[in-house]
Amino acid sequence: MVKVSVIGSGYVGLVAAACFAELGHEVICVDNDARKIAGLERGETPIHEKFLPELLARHRGKRIRFSGSVKDATRASQAIFIAVGTPPSENGEADLSYVEAVSREIARAIAANPNEYKIVVEKSTVPVDTSQGVRRVMELNGAPSHLFDVASNPEFLREGTAVTDFLYPDRIVIGADSERCIALLKKIYEPLTDGSYYKNKNIIPEPDDAQIPARLIATSAKSAELIKHASNAFLAMKISFINAVAAVCESVGADVGQVREGMGADIRIGKRFLYPGVGYGGSCFPKDVKAFRAVAQHCGYDFGLLDEVMRINDDQRQRFIKKVRNALWILKGKRLAVLGLAFKGGTDDIRDSQAIAIVQSLLKEGCTIAAYDPAAMPKTQASGAFSSEAVFFAANPYDAAKDADAVLVLTEWEEFASLDLERLRTALKHPIMVDGRNLYQPQIMAELGFTYISVGRPDVSAKKNAAVPAPGAD
Ligand code: UGA
Repeated sequence: MVKVSVIGSGYVGLVAAACFAELGHEVICVDNDARKIAGLERGETPIHEKFLPELLARHRGKRIRFSGSVKDATRASQAIFIAVGTPPSENGEADLSYVEAVSREIARAIAANPNEYKIVVEKSTVPVDTSQGVRRVMELNGAPSHLFDVASNPEFLREGTAVTDFLYPDRIVIGADSERCIALLKKIYEPLTDGSYYKNKNIIPEPDDAQIPARLIATSAKSAELIKHASNAFLAMKISFINAVAAVCESVGADVGQVREGMGADIRIGKRFLYPGVGYGGSCFPKDVKAFRAVAQHCGYDFGLLDEVMRINDDQRQRFIKKVRNALWILKGKRLAVLGLAFKGGTDDIRDSQAIAIVQSLLKEGCTIAAYDPAAMPKTQASGAFSSEAVFFAANPYDAAKDADAVLVLTEWEEFASLDLERLRTALKHPIMVDGRNLYQPQIMAELGFTYISVGRPDVSAKKNAAVPAPGAD
């Protein structure tokens, strides 16, 4: 057992804290938001994440406790993980002021009570060489250099599957420049790397492609920091690549699904993360691609490829809006049903969601919107993303579709794939669907009477219901 604290209880911090407790460690989860801490103490789970409520309930008051004090948490811990936000600043660089502020507090706590070796571990995504900055700040604030080390342990979890990703990782990366520090980090992850966790009863269920025991990669601190930025930038590039291929497919009448199948069969390419859509969003890819671009710039390397990744991503949103316009001709005054607001399926997170940006553009064009999302509506309403009264939040997809001129699919929610499409079509004023996530088969949609426009595949129009009125007709 290792005494661990996690500073910052956002997606990464809270999931990491709950999972460290699940691995048998004694964990203090810290946040400076007193309301959040009070809610966690009461048994609330502030984010929509599968298995997280179960883990918190299992360990709350036993192996995990919550606190607002970095000082107390530092004193009580051998390893302090920093999982605070690193939002983008105006020029795209990551704003590290929260990381700096927390490092200062940790240093002061160590300086006031300098008796035990501790490690400070960056879990937030940070630019290469942040570990040097953290070490410098800590020394300046009185932490004796022989009593601490700074490490990088980037997190690769995805929202929606965060707990499973943490406990069944493709790899665990630990980067540090001292053996003592590496040894403590290895101990923390040992239940996953020696496989002992997987032999316990009542563990979080194993996903299909789990790699057991987990693989650990030990590197220098700088390499670990780079692995995270380079991985996210590469995945974003993969998405932009297939979106660009989808645009070519649209021009020549090919099917991007077939192209993806064929490309992905080469194991060097792989099929995963090659789904075209409305562009990547979320709190990581947009920010990390920008930040990595800025890091390269600083180091004197002009990583223009990343500019193109971002350009294609923005373009993909515009292309979608153009499809809606082509389908409806005049957008002003049209009523549109929108399925999906979250940046991807399985989460209530709307940060940098392409769906939100698309709805905002359509509102500017004078459309009214009836939106439905299985989880993200409360956050959307609270965010004030749509100041306009032209947005109505529907109780279900069919209510959203009622009397709409077209339905737009913007998020890849699993439950949208199993909608009663007949019911959806009859609710619509015109049976037009613009699907930004390729959730349905064009031929089936045509047979069901839809005019169906998707991404990188030929458009189809209704095969039956020939009497369906054309857009613009009353
Ligand atoms: C991403 C990475 O996948 C994680 O490995 C990483 O740990 C995390 O960022 C992070 O840095 O914290 P996440 O942002 O949760 O995870 O979401 P993803 O599942 O990666 O999806 C990102 C966006 O790409 C979504 O908008 C999704 O709809 C889109 N996407 C994804 C596609 O358009 N096509 C695909 O094939 C895959």
